[in-house]
Amino acid sequence: MSANGRYSAFADAAIFDALRTPWVDLGGALAEVSPIDLGIKVGREVLARANVDPLAVDSVLAGSVAQASFDAYMLPRHIGLYSGVAQSVPALGVQRICATGFELLHQAARQLDDGVQLALCVAAESMSRNPIAAYTHRGGFRLGAEVQFKDFLWEALYDPAPGVDMITTADNLARRYGLSRDAVDAYACASHQRTFAAQQAGWLAPEIVAVSAQTFELPGYQPRSIRLPRGIEAVSEDSHPRPGDVAALARLRAVHEGGVQTAGNSCAVVDGAAAALVGSASACRDTPLALLRASAVVGVAPEFMGIGPAPAIRLLLHRSGLNLDQIDRFEINEAQAAQVLAVAQALELDCSRLNVHGGSIALGHPLAASGLRLVMTLARQLRAHNLRYGIAAACVGGGQGMAVLIENPAWRALPGL
Ligand SMILES: CC(C)(COP(=O)(O)OP(=O)(O)OC[C@H]1O[C@@H](n2cnc3c(N)ncnc32)[C@H](O)[C@@H]1OP(=O)(O)O)[C@@H](O)C(=O)NCCC(=O)NCCS
Repeated sequence: MSANGRYSAFADAAIFDALRTPWVDLGGALAEVSPIDLGIKVGREVLARANVDPLAVDSVLAGSVAQASFDAYMLPRHIGLYSGVAQSVPALGVQRICATGFELLHQAARQLDDGVQLALCVAAESMSRNPIAAYTHRGGFRLGAEVQFKDFLWEALYDPAPGVDMITTADNLARRYGLSRDAVDAYACASHQRTFAAQQAGWLAPEIVAVSAQTFELPGYQPRSIRLPRGIEAVSEDSHPRPGDVAALARLRAVHEGGVQTAGNSCAVVDGAAAALVGSASACRDTPLALLRASAVVGVAPEFMGIGPAPAIRLLLHRSGLNLDQIDRFEINEAQAAQVLAVAQALELDCSRLNVHGGSIALGHPLAASGLRLVMTLARQLRAHNLRYGIAAACVGGGQGMAVLIENPAWRALPGL
């Protein structure tokens, strides 16, 4: 622990397997599905794919940012129970807004030190089911007084401490780092094109489990189910990626006058869930997907929240004794294009190693779930190319940054190097 952030190293933690649902646009095919049911879906699937008996899980950790169902308080518990985990196994809710997925991995790795053998980590987010809410009407409605219902989704993107929304925090970074609208659009265009290419080439498919109508039985308790809109049998692909060109992006109006951020160069708003199994590397029967080496989390000024990954990555490198050049791939969440570019500039990071298959601008950012997606895609890249180290990072509304260092357990030094 230091005044400049918190660093944790993990001796023997590994991600055995991980997967996710498709990320689907706001109001799309997953809009009516509770995040609990999306979470159960990925929880069950990751256990099945890893060929792990749910009864072997001895800790459940789950996160969701929006209160997207009336039973939202039960989310971790119900995901555990309906995934087939034993009733005696406790479930913990975890939330660090956009870094919730990383925090789940961090907490699971920490629990291994307390004797946990296998943790089921699930992050599920329904941006579509953000409630239209009011906090002031329990006592009724006074005649003529203002009715205070507001869109939680929109309001939650505003930080009242500095008095700015998340888009403004990126516009602030664009001003501070001298990023032009052209540069920001060029980055966003590359993100769209890389993501679309990854989708077309089938790169994304192995991390995705299709969602279809399904009922989850739990003997002695009420069944839960996923229902899709009439006419949709299954959702198997991310819905937002499109091959864009920079001219189309340049035509979009800035969200705030004088700013650089638009709907095309900010992360899309989507629904989705992801799951990971975390246990001791030494206890893993097969080669795990990734070794979890360390995490770092820091605070930054709320009005520049998007810069958070830069000091988090610096802390991670400093304390783990690695340097930037030793990190083969970076996945930095694309909350906004100006935000990622500012982080890259602050770190003097060579963009050829960054978000090589695109990112949240094209895929979307279901707040809690993005961290697990970033680590998963990073781990898959390391495995696919015999690379050793990767760092995934995200900025966090309110002014934080978190980063996770992973290592490829199958990495082998090439002869002569
Ligand atoms: C930026 C934001 C406000 C835009 O919301 P929106 O206006 O509802 O966005 P839409 O998807 O309706 O897109 C607006 C327009 O841009 C167009 N557009 C969006 N992406 C595009 C792209 N890549 N290429 C071309 N056009 C695009 C849409 O087609 C739409 O056009 P239309 O008005 O003619 O239908 C919203 O996406 C947002 O807040 N994103 C950031 C979320 C965030 O900050 N998360 C937390 C991070 S900390």
